[in-house]
Formats: sequence, structure tokens, C-alpha cells
Amino acid sequence: MSIRNLDDLLAEGVSGRRVLVRADLNVPLDKQTGEITDDGRIRAVLPTLGALVSAGAKVVVCSHLGRPKGAPDPQFSLRPVAGRLGELLDAPVHFAEDTVGDSARSTVDALADGQVALLENLRFNKGETSKDDAERGAFADQLAAFGDAYVDDAFGAVHRKHASVYDVPARLPHVAGRLVLREVEVLSKLTGRPERPYVVVLGGSKVSDKLAVIEALLPTVDRLLIGGGMCFTFLKAQGHEVGTSLLEEEMVETCRNLLERSGGKIMLPVDVVAADAFSPDAAHDTVRADGIPSHRLGLDIGPETVAGFAAALSQAKTIFWNGPMGVFEMAPFAAGTRGLAEAITKADAFSVVGGGDSAAAVRSLGLDESGFDHISTGGGASLEYLEGKTLPGIAALEK
Ligand code: 3PG
Ligand code: MG
Repeated sequence: MSIRNLDDLLAEGVSGRRVLVRADLNVPLDKQTGEITDDGRIRAVLPTLGALVSAGAKVVVCSHLGRPKGAPDPQFSLRPVAGRLGELLDAPVHFAEDTVGDSARSTVDALADGQVALLENLRFNKGETSKDDAERGAFADQLAAFGDAYVDDAFGAVHRKHASVYDVPARLPHVAGRLVLREVEVLSKLTGRPERPYVVVLGGSKVSDKLAVIEALLPTVDRLLIGGGMCFTFLKAQGHEVGTSLLEEEMVETCRNLLERSGGKIMLPVDVVAADAFSPDAAHDTVRADGIPSHRLGLDIGPETVAGFAAALSQAKTIFWNGPMGVFEMAPFAAGTRGLAEAITKADAFSVVGGGDSAAAVRSLGLDESGFDHISTGGGASLEYLEGKTLPGIAALEK
């Protein structure tokens, strides 16, 4: 890509310079204990941070976490992330109690060469996500004052037109970090000339979230396998009863239309695991996808579907997967996602996993991450990239 990257910045020399790094440290936290349940996104920015530390930069890291509403909210504090980041870097991370206030200023001022600070959650400030250019710009001015250069390594947030992603690079010399560079390199292979057959697997709960990417992918892919909660709206569109399964009634007609136009590329489940209730203890059985009992809801794809999807994947030369096949967090409904993930790792294909949920599924099911060629840190961002949309964070780096 025609963007300057970290190596260009390092070549200029960063020793003693303050480098503001936008990272996506939006990691899942346990609702009860507040502990980090998956630190994949923290690990993903270590190559960039490590390189800056070694080069003697004063590294100022900023990120969002969750969706606080423009004011401090303790449940979304980045403090636990600072602790984990320090462990992984094996160096103290100086945590600022605010994002651009007194604490941030004194923390940044006190940094020695090769030290790292983490600012408090960007979204504790209205300006970060504001739709008003002036309000975002005023916040960007405050952030930009903490850096002599800016590195964007927040791939998971490049689809957001937010101050730290879009407006700060207009104010400082800017480059793409190692993670952003790698993500864009990989995804551009998929939108360029993927080796064929190119098979895409989509799951997750809502068709409406995935409609744009389905539309964009249908002409390009050889096969589109659909599982997860959204398969029931497609099954309904085929005229099947889906019991009490997740259903987007207003999308049924759209799905019928997609199926008609798909030229047979779309593969749907032939069997599903249907349960009495949305609970790990609920009575459940594998049933035909065209015969879900009226009082039951589908919570996973069935074994025959996994075998069919695996057969399609075994032919593939390029694979992209986004979205779990079932409620993998509950043991009785994890087999579909597990089986699918294993089929991808067995295929002799270039394989990319997109998205927070599917990446977390890979790790929480204890699957070998090295079996995939790339696990993207961006869910929404990777889908919007594949849709061919302009990503504000990337566009800002190109300028
Ligand atoms: C994500 O988790 O998808 C990214 O961190 C972006 O977060 P957002 O969807 O709240 O903007
Ligand atoms: Mg998201």
C-alpha cells in the first residue's frame, strides 16, 4: 500500500521522540471479575510497541475499550489493560488516569526514552466519537500535543471516523504500524486475485449485519457457507419452519432474493442442534434443518452440516471465515464452530479468520492458532474492507 509504515519512521530515528500510538486494546472482560478473558488484541500490538521501545522512543499508547458514552465510566477503564500490557512487554506501563487532562500531561512529561505510557479510555471524551468535525478536531488537537509522530496500529478501529483514528493523523507525521500493515496486506489478497476455489464461511447472529458483505462477496466467491444464528432467516426463506430460532422476519424476502441470485453458491445447514431453551442445560437434539420442532430453537449446526462444509473447505485454496457457527460459549453447542475451525486448519488453503468473535472462539476452544494463516483483530473493520468500503483510518494514513 502507498502508506508510510513503522520502518520508515524508525529509519528517521525516534530516540527521545514522543510517538503517539493508536492501538485497539478493546479486549473482552469477564462481567463478574473484570478480568481480561482474551488478550489477543494486546499481543497483536507488541511488535510495534517493542520496536519503538527498543529504538528509544517515548511511547504514548491510546485506545478505546467498550462503548462508554463520552464520560468516565469505571467499568470501561483501561487500567487492567495497562497491567497486562506491562506483563507482556516485561516493562512497567505508566497509566494515566485521564486521556488528555492533568494526569495524562504529567505521565507523558515524565516518560524517559524507551518507556511506555497508556492513556485512559479515549471514549471517556465526547470529542472522540463526535459527528461534529470541530468537536472531534478540538479533541484531536489535545491528543496530538502528546506526540511528535503518530502510529496507527488499531486495525480493529480503522472503520471508525473517530478523532484518534481520523483527525490525529492530519495533525502529525503518521505511519501504519506493523499490525495495520499486515492486516491490510492479507485482506488485499482476498479482494485482489484470491487463489481458487475461494470459500467464505459466515456465521454470527444477524443477516442484517452481514448483508453488505454478502452482496459484495457473492460475485467473487466460489462458495458461501452460512451458519450461526443468521442461517435461520435463510432457512425460513427456503420455506422451512424454524421453531423459536433467531429470526429476522423483515430480512426473509431479502434472503430469498439472495438465494435466487446466488447461482447455487450459498450452502446452508442440512441439520441443526435444536434445544428447548437458550441454556447449556436445555434438552437438545440434532434435527433436520427442514424439520425444526415448533417449540425448539437451533443453537448450532449439526454434524452432517459440518461434514458438508468440511468437504467444501477441503477443496478450497483461499478461505475467509467470520462468525461462530453456534453458541460456542455453551459446551453442548460448540461442536459446529469447533468442527468448522478444524476443517479450515486441515485445508490446504490460505486461511484468514476475521473478527473478534471468531478469533475469540478459536482461542477459547483451545484450537491451534498457528493452523490459520492470519487471525484478524478487526471484525467490523475486516468486513468493511472486504465490502470495498473506504476505511477512514486507512484513508487518513494515505494523505
Ligand atoms: C471492535 O471491537 O469491533 C473494535 O474495537 C471497534 O469497536 P466499536 O465497534 O465499538 O467501534
Ligand atoms: Mg465490533
